[in-house]
Amino acid sequence: MNQEIKIFNNTEEIATEFALLMLNLLKNADGKPIHIALSGGSTPKAMFKVLNEKFGTQLYNKQFHFWWGDDRCVPPTHDESNYKWANELWLQSIGYNEKNIHRVKGENNSEEETLRYEKEIQNHLPIENNLPTFDIMLLGLGEDGHTASIFPYQIDFLNSKNICEVATHPYSGQKRITITGQTINNSKNIIFLATGAKKAEKIHEVVTLKKKNLPATGIKANNGDLFWWIDTESASMINT
Ligand code: 6PG
Repeated sequence: MNQEIKIFNNTEEIATEFALLMLNLLKNADGKPIHIALSGGSTPKAMFKVLNEKFGTQLYNKQFHFWWGDDRCVPPTHDESNYKWANELWLQSIGYNEKNIHRVKGENNSEEETLRYEKEIQNHLPIENNLPTFDIMLLGLGEDGHTASIFPYQIDFLNSKNICEVATHPYSGQKRITITGQTINNSKNIIFLATGAKKAEKIHEVVTLKKKNLPATGIKANNGDLFWWIDTESASMINT
């Protein structure tokens, strides 16, 4: 498993790195679909905006399929929907439609939707190591060390035999659907996107101290590479 830490100066540099990764995967895909799982969170949102403004339709190609590592059990128009922001800030603006956008249908019953989303993943993604394989798995890092919607008190979702689980936010009680650890760890390119001073301590606890009680520590690139895309503020407590 390869792990690489990269420090960026701003969101524009991060967006450029993401765009180059997408275009490189496209070049080497031999016409096959490329499956990208997006994340919610403030940094991804800022990146989507730059991807739209700076790269526009350069990143439009029918081979790209977009998924979510997790999403909230809310309608697609809700401000809490991870799909809503990625779609409005980026995907729909450059021409993608539901043929290439595989959203969690947060408006559905959460238990039923978990099974439906799991089936949709199984029906579309290539299988390696008996698990669906995403080409890119974009992850955020919560201040409690959660990632996707695998929270510390539900850390057993890292090893769930199910591809998706219904998670519940520890404070708000909000239901979410999350892809679980084994599938996340089977991805080709796992990218933690965590910027800002508030993330510095958790990045130190995960990357340096490898604290086992934090779900993010359980993210391992078992079938590819793990990247930490951070900035000088969030990198302030680690040796790079
Ligand atoms: C979500 C995300 C979640 C997020 C982290 C970091 O649905 O909220 O998937 O895992 O990435 O909470 O969010 P910020 O980047 O906004 O701190």
